[in-house]
Amino acid sequence: MKTRNYLLNSAMFALLAFFVFVGTGNTALAADKLVLYCSPQIEWCNLMVKEFEKATGINVKMTRKSSGETFAQIKAEAKRPRGDVWWGGTGDPHLQAAEEGLTQTYTSPHFDQLREWAKIQAKNSGMKTVGIYSGALGFGYNTELLAKKGLSTPQCWKDLIKPEYKGEVQIANPNSSGTSYTTLATIVQLFGEKEGFDFLKAMHKNVNQYTKSGSAPIKAAGRGETTIGIVFMHDAVTQTVNGMPIVTVAPCEGTGYEVGSMSIIKGGPNPESAKKFYDFALQADIQTMAAQAKAYQVPSNMNAKAPPEAPDLKTVKLINYDFKTYGSSDTRKRLLKKWDEEVGSLPR
Ligand code: F6P
Repeated sequence: MKTRNYLLNSAMFALLAFFVFVGTGNTALAADKLVLYCSPQIEWCNLMVKEFEKATGINVKMTRKSSGETFAQIKAEAKRPRGDVWWGGTGDPHLQAAEEGLTQTYTSPHFDQLREWAKIQAKNSGMKTVGIYSGALGFGYNTELLAKKGLSTPQCWKDLIKPEYKGEVQIANPNSSGTSYTTLATIVQLFGEKEGFDFLKAMHKNVNQYTKSGSAPIKAAGRGETTIGIVFMHDAVTQTVNGMPIVTVAPCEGTGYEVGSMSIIKGGPNPESAKKFYDFALQADIQTMAAQAKAYQVPSNMNAKAPPEAPDLKTVKLINYDFKTYGSSDTRKRLLKKWDEEVGSLPR
């Protein structure tokens, strides 16, 4: 009798589970997951996770790491990929990942809504990555510290090697940070490789710390721990919006820029969720939400609203940044090795 009841109960439970399963319709099953590697501001990463989970019911496991670090992680995991989507971070390491076969081709139905620079990034990678935002490189300084120390106002890259700024400049390490690699590639493109490395060696004397994350130097400047931080201009603007005494500078010689990118990791555990996130992240209304996280990059969807605080790239003297060359595996590896040997390892 007991066995009969047990069997009856089990059958009813299975039936119930079936109806719950069918009844979920379009919403995700409890098992739907996404492992997201996120490289922009943590506030924006968190907002994207929240909105995506709300829209799809898919459970997201997210970690925020800098662009170079994420590239290294995806490469290390290549035999057994654990991540599904790499969202954001500078475009160069995304191009390198594409070239090294770590990411997979995908064309979103929203592709036609994207700005030309976002499409070019995709085409340069054989459709293995795509542009999601853009932003110009520059630096910011703390006005109160500058005045207190009686320093002159820096306006140009070449100002940053003046002896008066000894110990006053902070920048990330180009191995971990996409911001800092963009700086390295920009300086080489602006001044040529020989003069560019001479500049980086001279600036090394003024650097108080090479941080892991690209935006850390301007946060430190906001807190009064360093006078100057070399960062993307939008990250300096965030500090000003947060009430810090930070002024943003577009360097007088001209400057480079990023095409922040997104890629689907080849062989990731949740390929269907990956495509859903990819399409979601290219939607105009989703990109417009960046301002809520005080992320002031220029969005790649033409119909998304650029936040009014976003630096107007038309007023910045931009170089014709060669993404194909500086995002190639050979060039990126070579320049980083050279930086380690000739700049990062020098005494200060
Ligand atoms: O803080 C946002 C941001 O500047 C993005 O625009 C950029 O892609 C990313 O950070 C780069 O971060 P990191 O230099 O730490 O790789």
